[in-house]
Amino acid sequence: MAKESNAVENAILQVDGLSVRYGKVEALHDGKLTVGAGQIVSVIGPNGAGKSTLLNAIMGALPQTGHSKGSVRYLGEEVSVLPIERRVSRGMCLVPEKRELFATMAVEDNLVLGAYRRKRAGERNYLDQLEHVFELFPRLKERRKQAAGTLSGGERQMLAVGRALMGKPQLLMLDEPSLGLAPLIVKEIFHIISALRQTGVATLLIEQNARAALQISDYGYVLETGEFALEGKADVLQHDPQVIETYLGLTKKVA
Ligand SMILES: Nc1ncnc2c1ncn2[C@@H]1O[C@H](COP(=O)(O)OP(=O)(O)O)[C@@H](O)[C@H]1O
Ligand SMILES: [Mg+2]
Repeated sequence: MAKESNAVENAILQVDGLSVRYGKVEALHDGKLTVGAGQIVSVIGPNGAGKSTLLNAIMGALPQTGHSKGSVRYLGEEVSVLPIERRVSRGMCLVPEKRELFATMAVEDNLVLGAYRRKRAGERNYLDQLEHVFELFPRLKERRKQAAGTLSGGERQMLAVGRALMGKPQLLMLDEPSLGLAPLIVKEIFHIISALRQTGVATLLIEQNARAALQISDYGYVLETGEFALEGKADVLQHDPQVIETYLGLTKKVA
């Protein structure tokens, strides 16, 4: 385990001693990570490593059978005791692996739904992010009246991220945004995630596509069978022989 740690002045998220079990099986053991203000932090690891488990535990969105223990601090507050709704209203947002869009509804209506919580909280300008989302994703603007179910995979992913942004999150957590997308689309999506840094949102990115994730990240963690095996600045990890052999090399072999 690298001695490195993500030393930041303003931590948005601090996870410590986070373990998750499904029944008797432990899927995550003693997880510890930090996301600083304005950072993109990625967690890379193969299928089944516990990446989704980690995100769901941070969000309070584990299935009934999952139990977590440990500390999740968001903006300095212990949120592991809070239900998911309260975490969302504080500005935490998870785009799950299944994008959960409303297929028969128009793109624009899906986006408006992303602001529902702000509307219910009485925010008058709850739609103020719409133009911003359309600027980030001009393709969504072109297709604003089109049913979400008729979008391509890449456009659907854009819509899922756009809908998340409508809630004005301070912490955006993305579960494998590149899954099932063609390389060119992956590039486009990652470019946009990278651009989000300028808007002040902190991003925790979970990926199997280690190369693409590390390229846009400030800091990275490697998760292997429920344990954090390695961590470091993203540009250092990209050149780490162990990471190259196990993750970046593997991509080459598969291709
Ligand atoms: N609801 C569940 N019930 C039991 N085991 C689960 C459940 N969800 C995930 N697991 C197990 O936990 C481990 C980690 O899964 P997951 O977090 O989905 O990994 P990843 O997202 O990295 O592919 C796997 O062994 C998986 O089979
Ligand atoms: Mg997963």
